[in-house]
Amino acid sequence: MAAAPIDLRSDTVTHPTPAMRRAMADAEVGDDVFGDDPTVNALEARAAELTGKEAALFVTSGTMGNLVSEMAHVPRGGEIICGEGGHTILHEAANHAVVVGASMRTLPWGPDGRMDLDDIRAAFRDPTDVHDPITSLVIVENTHSDSMAQPLPPEYIRAVGDVARERGVPLHIDGARLFNAVVALDTTAREMLAGADSASFCLSKGLACPVGSLVVGERDFIWRARRARKMLGGGMRQAGILAAAGLVALSDGPDGMVARLAEDHANARRLAEALATLPGISGLDPTQVRTNFVLFWVGPPGATPTIAHSTAFLAALEAEGVLMIDFHDGRVRAVPHYGITAADIDRTIDATRRALSVAFAPDKELARV
Ligand SMILES: Cc1ncc(COP(=O)(O)O)c(C=O)c1O
Repeated sequence: MAAAPIDLRSDTVTHPTPAMRRAMADAEVGDDVFGDDPTVNALEARAAELTGKEAALFVTSGTMGNLVSEMAHVPRGGEIICGEGGHTILHEAANHAVVVGASMRTLPWGPDGRMDLDDIRAAFRDPTDVHDPITSLVIVENTHSDSMAQPLPPEYIRAVGDVARERGVPLHIDGARLFNAVVALDTTAREMLAGADSASFCLSKGLACPVGSLVVGERDFIWRARRARKMLGGGMRQAGILAAAGLVALSDGPDGMVARLAEDHANARRLAEALATLPGISGLDPTQVRTNFVLFWVGPPGATPTIAHSTAFLAALEAEGVLMIDFHDGRVRAVPHYGITAADIDRTIDATRRALSVAFAPDKELARV
């Protein structure tokens, strides 16, 4: 039987740990829509405690976490300020428009993943002008995917929160990979979110749980988010089976998955350092790899990289038993995660070298593009 591929497409491909599976099998459950599931209640209490917020809500996914947060913060006809290329604007099926009834005002970001504070200030609409939508929310993504998943520091979150609140508007953090940022910057989730009004974070990415995300914030906000979750059909019943895995992931003991994220960051950095030396790979500065994303362009040396080059490379790499994925702007993405070992990284480096020479061999049509 062929060996399983080394799957670096995303940290979402992780499988639950043995400790999670045991906890899921043994989980005490109840009807969570009635508020009766002790394991969900414990997970929500743990998330609130870890993030220093009043309350938390267990939801199915990061997308639902962001959506119920937007529904809880933003009225119809409201506008959300966020970074261009952000997940909430590009990859959530326009739910801000379809479900929330809001527009998005997008801003550029720098190589460190930050939107400029003056740009944010200037993006607020005039609430006295009848023509304008009503600026109702600012969203910051942390880690910031497009900038090679840069971890944005708590001081920046505080500064954006101050700008937003000067205008009476809350700040939400799309923290799908919040704990990657926390670990990379050696801080705490509480400190990281001190300047934010709400946040969502995923359990089913680097933390390796099978399902789920958490939304955190003030009690009233969480009540509105809970109602929004119900409206979307996201009220789950014996959800403790799923929440049990989250409690393991967020635990402090040896089965906890937060501190382990540092291994993924080290693997990502080592992979990037090797790939950056290969002819045919461009746009990869290994010092920019501070969490778990490695993003780069591929193409024949000297040619301008295109999406067709990425497609050819990914096919050649798959034939070598390694999976990566095309990022939305044409770059290739590799994401080390739980289950990926240092030996897998070595095999990936060798496979990449071979795939580049196959995809961009001098006799190949693409090599001349
Ligand atoms: C930055 C960011 N936000 C939100 C999400 C949505 O998470 P989910 O896939 O659980 O809906 C993702 C998913 O990859 C993400 O990368």
